[in-house]
Parts: sequence; structure tokens; C-alpha cells
Amino acid sequence: MTTTTNDSVLAAAEQYARDELGGDVTGHDWWHIHRVVRMARHLAEREGADIFICVLAALLHDVADEKLNDSKESGLRKVRDWLAAQPMEESDRAHVMDIIANMSYNGGANPPMRTLEGQVVQDADRLDAIGAIAVARAFLYAGWKGDPIYDPELKPRDAMTPGEYRTGKSTAINHFHEKLLKLKDRINTASGREIAEERHAYMAEYVARFMQEWDGIGS
Ligand code: ADP
Ligand code: NI
Repeated sequence: MTTTTNDSVLAAAEQYARDELGGDVTGHDWWHIHRVVRMARHLAEREGADIFICVLAALLHDVADEKLNDSKESGLRKVRDWLAAQPMEESDRAHVMDIIANMSYNGGANPPMRTLEGQVVQDADRLDAIGAIAVARAFLYAGWKGDPIYDPELKPRDAMTPGEYRTGKSTAINHFHEKLLKLKDRINTASGREIAEERHAYMAEYVARFMQEWDGIGS
């Protein structure tokens, strides 16, 4: 496909993502997509990945999210149908679908991404969950879910039974320990890791500082 055709597919995908995600407050709003796209482009350039695939997958990666659809399957079907109507190679459609279907964190249980492009987009998404913006996203999400910022009397999640874990309350601070502080060791690319290290240090410092203030000790 020509560069002009690819550019028009990316413009259409941007419009589609804006329409689908505009007002979301679960951490998947349009500006999250915008940041992930910019980071994916940056990492793709540094890692020598296919920029069209990376940007397209980044634009579409949350349209299929379970939280915004009846199920993951129906979300993926929606994206597949959208891609089918675009003028592009079938192999590129399959590649983008493969990335979107496999990139979520899933407790760290998903298999590693198969292609460099998948690794780049996954890193870009994860980097948005590490650092200063990630702190804001975690508290926004916790508020949306009805979780408190922190509760020292709440059973730690790793002490819960699987049933309690699924239904039990968590806290924003818990989420840092459960997921966000683990992400830096799950970054695929060297250029992504460099950014992750620095953002992680800031976030770890933030959590330490939060606990210090909670315990009533001045700086
Ligand atoms: P992704 O699917 O991109 O891995 P999620 O949908 O799990 O991300 O989360 C979107 C954003 O909301 C992330 O920044 C994530 O850290 C935050 N988030 C997800 N679950 C929770 C939670 N239980 N408490 C606080 N923040 C959360
Ligand atoms: Ni995302």
C-alpha cells in the first residue's frame, strides 16, 4: 500500500478511536491513546519497527477493551470488522489484530508478544501506567471503581483467596503493588526499558512518600 493510503487509514483510525473512547474515565480516554501512539512511534523509530503497524495498533488497542464492550470477543469483532473495511494488506490486518488481542497485562500471564511491533505497542501502553501520569490514572480509576486511596485495615490482596480477590475491595495504593511497580521488569525493548527505569523510580518514590505521610512522619 502507498504512504498516502496508509496515512488515510491512520486518520480514519484516529477518528474511530476518538468516537469510541472520547469520554471514558476508566483510564482509556482519547488522551491515553494519544500518548500511547506518540510513544509507540518514538519506540518504533528507535527499534526499527514498522511505524504504520505500531501506530495503527496503538490507535485501536483499547477500542476492544472488555470494560467498554459486552465481552472481549465482541470488542475484537468490532475492530476486525472496522479493519476489514480499510484499504490495506490482509497480512497487516492480521498483524494488528494479533497485537490487540494479546497485549493486555492479564496479571502477567499472557504469552510474550510475537513480533517487534507487538513488543513496541505493549511497551508504549505499559509506559503510560508507570510514572507521574500513571499515578493520576490509578487514583482516577480507583475513584471510578469506588475504591479508597488506601486502607491499612484491608486484607492485602496476596493474602486473599481467589474468590475474595475477585469480589473484594482493593485500594489505589494496593494497585501500585499488585501491578504498576511490577511493570518495569516486563518491558520488552531496550529503549522502552530506559524510560521505564526513570519513571519507575519516580513512582516508587511517590508511594514511599505517601506511606511516610500516612504514618505521620514529616519529610
Ligand atoms: P491495560 O488494559 O492498558 O493494561 P487497565 O485497563 O488494566 O490497563 O487499566 C487502565 C488504567 O487504570 C491503568 O493506568 C491502570 O493502572 C489503572 N487501573 C486498572 N485497574 C486499577 C485498579 N484496580 N485500581 C487503580 N487503578 C487501576
Ligand atoms: Ni491502553
